[in-house]
Amino acid sequence: MTNSPKGKFITVEGIEGVGKSTNIESMRYFLDDKNIECIVTREPGGTDLGEDIRELLLGHKHGAMSSDCELLLMFASRAQHLAQVIAPAIEKGQWVICDRFTDATYAYQGGGRGIADKHIALLEKWVHGDRQPDLTFLLDTDVATGMARVHKRGAADRFESEAAAFFERVRNKYLERATSKPSRITVVDAGQALSQVKADIRQRLNEFVAHTQL
Ligand SMILES: Nc1ncnc2c1ncn2[C@@H]1O[C@H](COP(=O)(O)OP(=O)(O)OP(=O)(O)O)[C@@H](O)[C@H]1O
Ligand SMILES: [Mg+2]
Repeated sequence: MTNSPKGKFITVEGIEGVGKSTNIESMRYFLDDKNIECIVTREPGGTDLGEDIRELLLGHKHGAMSSDCELLLMFASRAQHLAQVIAPAIEKGQWVICDRFTDATYAYQGGGRGIADKHIALLEKWVHGDRQPDLTFLLDTDVATGMARVHKRGAADRFESEAAAFFERVRNKYLERATSKPSRITVVDAGQALSQVKADIRQRLNEFVAHTQL
């Protein structure tokens, strides 16, 4: 008996309003067209338990939350997500497209909140050291553009309520990671017209699929 090939793990990153949700939908259609079975999921969240943790993280219910508590809740949600959704899907041969993953933790809790990379790296190794995304899209645009898109949507969540300086730090950390991991992380200029953003993503995804099927 031959083992069926494992699925691929694709993550989509970027600050608020860069177009992650919008472009993930197009990525799903693209993979459907190629007859690649895929699931779309998100972090924090992706499981019933994780979605409850997401509410704690994004809501305003408990007032001030310590940065360490925030970091640990992110990884608590991630541990459940990996065990219950991501790992089983990949083992079955499905591709997983995840809206944010550990790069976001480095960007938000590291760059944004100021937690040292070495602390995040410890949790990363513990929770999923042997499982990293195969491909990551970093949708990047200036903070003002992203925030303007998000503010059209209504009440701000706990992260969206942060000042622009917070998102500048988050954005810079994302870009720093992209520079240090160029083979995994593709930066897409998300300030372009949506049709061009989609075309850039499609081109990279096409290359990735072709390479996978070699
Ligand atoms: N390139 C673009 N040009 C103009 N508008 C865009 C572009 N990409 C996305 N939008 C619009 O910006 C808004 C935010 O997009 P979307 O919800 O996909 O962002 P997001 O990254 O998922 O945000 P969040 O981090 O809050 O989940 C939507 O109204 C979407 O239609
Ligand atoms: Mg979204």
